[in-house]
Amino acid sequence: MKLSFIGAGNLAWHLAMAFENAGNFICEVYSRDEKNARRLISMLYDARLNPDLNFAESESELFVLAIPDDAIEEVTAQLVLPENALVVHTSGSKSLESLRQLMDIYSDVPVRTGVFYPLQTFSKGINPLPFETIPLCIEASDKSTEKLLIALGQELSQIVYLVNSHERKVLHIAAVFACNFTNYLFGIAKDLTDSENLEFDLLKPLIEETVQKALDARHPAEVQTGPARRGDVTTLSLHRAYLSDKPELLHLYRMLSEGIQTRR
Ligand SMILES: NC(=O)c1ccc[n+]([C@@H]2O[C@H](COP(=O)([O-])OP(=O)(O)OC[C@H]3O[C@@H](n4cnc5c(N)ncnc54)[C@H](OP(=O)(O)O)[C@@H]3O)[C@@H](O)[C@H]2O)c1
Repeated sequence: MKLSFIGAGNLAWHLAMAFENAGNFICEVYSRDEKNARRLISMLYDARLNPDLNFAESESELFVLAIPDDAIEEVTAQLVLPENALVVHTSGSKSLESLRQLMDIYSDVPVRTGVFYPLQTFSKGINPLPFETIPLCIEASDKSTEKLLIALGQELSQIVYLVNSHERKVLHIAAVFACNFTNYLFGIAKDLTDSENLEFDLLKPLIEETVQKALDARHPAEVQTGPARRGDVTTLSLHRAYLSDKPELLHLYRMLSEGIQTRR
């Protein structure tokens, strides 16, 4: 299939290459900053730069919105598409209905809409991920578009699910806890070790074991350890005293410790 990318950020970087590796062809890439579009294009077979959001002459059938959720309205308001285009967004939390409504308002030609949400974390420039293991959440405005997106998804991944907008939002919230918040906490651990000239590397076997145990357990709560889990009151208060000149960390430490204690 011929497709175009609107957005050349973290997700577009991986998804565009995955589409091409599966035998599809990226015709154009648009990004607000041309430099970013050109960087992605340099990784693709024969894509060209689209300097603006006018795709009227494009040969693509599918247009992938790989832009921040809050930019979707602004971009769709300027997007010019060829007849019979299919537009998908890649967001965890934006509903299909909201995209459908925007296209109804802003597009001069009838377009089909869908969602193509890969449930994984992507960072630009980091080695291509094994896409076949990434769950793809698909939703579409009509049955034939749904069939097309499922077939396309199956070219990329072995795990393709039909997921409605509500279910996708819940999966996204769960993903924010499982991925974004844990990564933020890893960052705090790094800042703490750096601030005392200690090696963050010393924590890496612990991080690996924590993730592996959580994956293997029936429920991660069953393998929870640490002073809050054990009820080591003196240690908890020692830790709070150390963090007393870092109010944000102290607040977080208290909140998470209380959560662990009340879960028991
Ligand atoms: N990253 C992930 O792990 C991940 C995973 C699953 C789904 N997603 C979804 O993928 C979508 C994109 O996320 P991302 O992480 O790839 O974002 P990103 O790295 O921040 O990239 C965003 C892209 O959108 C462009 N952009 C930003 N604001 C814009 C605006 N107001 N108008 C036009 N273009 C704008 C940026 O252009 P310039 O940089 O050139 O200015 C860039 O090309 C989101 O819906 C997100 O939910 C992301």
